[in-house]
Amino acid sequence: MERSQAQALDAQDELGKYRNQFVITDPNTCYLDGNSLGRLPHATVKAISDFLTQEWGPKVVTGWEDWIDEAQRVGDLIGRSALGAGAGQVLACDTTSVNLYQLALAAIKARPGRKTIIIDAANFPTDRYIMQGIAKSLGLNLITIDNEDGAISENELITPELLKTYLSDDVALVSLQVVQYRSGARQDIEALTELVKSYGALMLWDAAHAVGSVVLDFDKNGVDLAVGCTYKYGNSGPGAPAWLYVSKDIQRELQVPIQGWFAQRDQFAMGDNFEKIEGIRGFQIASPSLMGLRCVKSAFEMIEEAGISRIEGKAGQGTQMMIELFDKWLSPLGFTLNTPRGAGNRGGHISLCHPEASKIAIALRKYANVIPDYRAPNSIRVAISPLVNSYVEIYDGFQRIRDLVSTRQYEKIDDGQVRVT
Ligand SMILES: Cc1ncc(COP(=O)(O)O)c(C=O)c1O
Repeated sequence: MERSQAQALDAQDELGKYRNQFVITDPNTCYLDGNSLGRLPHATVKAISDFLTQEWGPKVVTGWEDWIDEAQRVGDLIGRSALGAGAGQVLACDTTSVNLYQLALAAIKARPGRKTIIIDAANFPTDRYIMQGIAKSLGLNLITIDNEDGAISENELITPELLKTYLSDDVALVSLQVVQYRSGARQDIEALTELVKSYGALMLWDAAHAVGSVVLDFDKNGVDLAVGCTYKYGNSGPGAPAWLYVSKDIQRELQVPIQGWFAQRDQFAMGDNFEKIEGIRGFQIASPSLMGLRCVKSAFEMIEEAGISRIEGKAGQGTQMMIELFDKWLSPLGFTLNTPRGAGNRGGHISLCHPEASKIAIALRKYANVIPDYRAPNSIRVAISPLVNSYVEIYDGFQRIRDLVSTRQYEKIDDGQVRVT
């Protein structure tokens, strides 16, 4: 892999035109952290400005006539552009954590008598903490599959054969990530969902690291429940509303624990008792953040136009290039790769492990104008955000990683210099 090959890939890249649609203040920065926070689309700047001047300003409270169903409208957009979900199954609301809690509890209550929840050790901290809290408060048995040290699984991947060893008719809920936040391993959502369902349990996917980078095909894959964010490959901004997906097949069966007024059958009758409305609206708690939703709308319209299959294709090609550069430059410098080599088994990021990873990640930002992130205990994550990154940006970023590590510049960094890694 030479730089000229990266240039050739850029020249043929059907998605290359989208890069100019984002705010990029320093073209010399190699921004390889779009899996953590995507860049700002120019369209979003206009959308927010228009919302303030043409909607909130002049309409004030009368604006709610239009805004009241916005979480459903934007949910449908996320569903068709990125999730492979038909209308009426996705809501854009709250945070991934709140949505996970809501759906997990609803699922557990829908399987009365079953006392076991399954999660994996490599799952994102918020997911593990929430399941620990639910298990403790309801007196349930929480099984945490120990997939971190490589003994029972490679790159944190959960195969159906592995999951099967933990399943029984006591399991109410299994919750896993579609793409592991640290290793980048991508699970077989169709096979795992089918397996869990065959035991009569419900499967709840966290797709935060997958949405906007790979094809999810939730409807086709028989997914029951899923949550995710919009601020990573979704480019919708820090703290933008997250989303939840509940398949039409099980919407009637499920009741979320927070019975807010937006889920009430006749919301403005202000009645005495809660009565859940039919459909996905029955899963909405409260007033949506309109400004947040406008950020999601402009960013996911871009994903819809670009096409999620083309986005997935570029994520596969970009991560393949990263792996080739890892083999050539970084493996000889003491790095190891904690990501599957098969393009179908990973998402948009790869995980480079090194004993000095935390210092290297800080040094890259400080001295090399390369922005990756660090995840304890020893991973540097680097991502391709297909609408934003060029192949040359990735090539140059890897060259700078090589140069910084081979000259040991990172040794100048004191640990504990940054709070957010
Ligand atoms: C996989 C995964 N799940 C959940 C979260 C938590 O998201 P939130 O802060 O929106 O609840 C994150 C955040 O990065 C994540 O990566």
